[in-house]
Amino acid sequence: MREHRPVIALDFPSFEAVKEFLSLFPAEESLYLKVGMELYYAEGPEVVRYLKSLGHSVFLDLKLHDIPNTVKSAMKVLSQLGVDMTNVHAAGGVEMMKAAREGLGKEAKLIAVTQLTSTSESQMQDFQNIQTSLQESVIHYAKKTAEAGLDGVVCSAQEVQLIKQATNPDFICLTPGIRPAGAAVGDQKRVMTPADAYQIGSDYIVVGRPITQAEDPVAAYHAIKDEWNQDRNERNRL
Ligand code: C5P
Repeated sequence: MREHRPVIALDFPSFEAVKEFLSLFPAEESLYLKVGMELYYAEGPEVVRYLKSLGHSVFLDLKLHDIPNTVKSAMKVLSQLGVDMTNVHAAGGVEMMKAAREGLGKEAKLIAVTQLTSTSESQMQDFQNIQTSLQESVIHYAKKTAEAGLDGVVCSAQEVQLIKQATNPDFICLTPGIRPAGAAVGDQKRVMTPADAYQIGSDYIVVGRPITQAEDPVAAYHAIKDEWNQDRNERNRL
């Protein structure tokens, strides 16, 4: 289930900025691109149709969380855009996740956010009034996500092994917070290199600024991709 292309977070404010960034890559290179709230709310579904028309894969990261019927209808619309993967908040509940699956259909992958990585354990305990450890809450949400028939979760690379043990080895773990050795960490708190993410069993890595803000984004992308596929590259050489 492992995706060999790192997913590039297109955290840009406009269509123009996206086009400029993509023009750096050869036209025949098929990329896996993450469209988040900023870009989607600025440019709407047109940006997704555009990326798909260029032959790219799209992860639409809108983190839906509403009543089941509303989420189901929204997912129906997203499925018509041809997205390859999208997501919901597991906190919306099993009924909501099942409704999301029904609306989206089986063509696209559907994953859930458990606890946001910006949430600390004390915040979770005080504000959400959940009296367990953060890790237990993440595992609980991951199990419920699997139960609802979703394909996986967004999680920190540190949680991958526990989540796979608690669900099944095919349950997708998509991990942001990836930094090649020596790269600026920015506002990410717990980071992991692409090679380490590979070792611990991440299925997808999401990388934003180390590629989008690099002096040479194409070179940065390929360096990260090579590191992410290191073992496979070595096997292929044997
Ligand atoms: O630039 P950077 O590599 O930190 O970007 C990571 C991307 O992954 C951003 O789009 C960010 O919103 C997203 N993300 C994250 N942590 C999560 C969920 C999503 O960094 N837990």
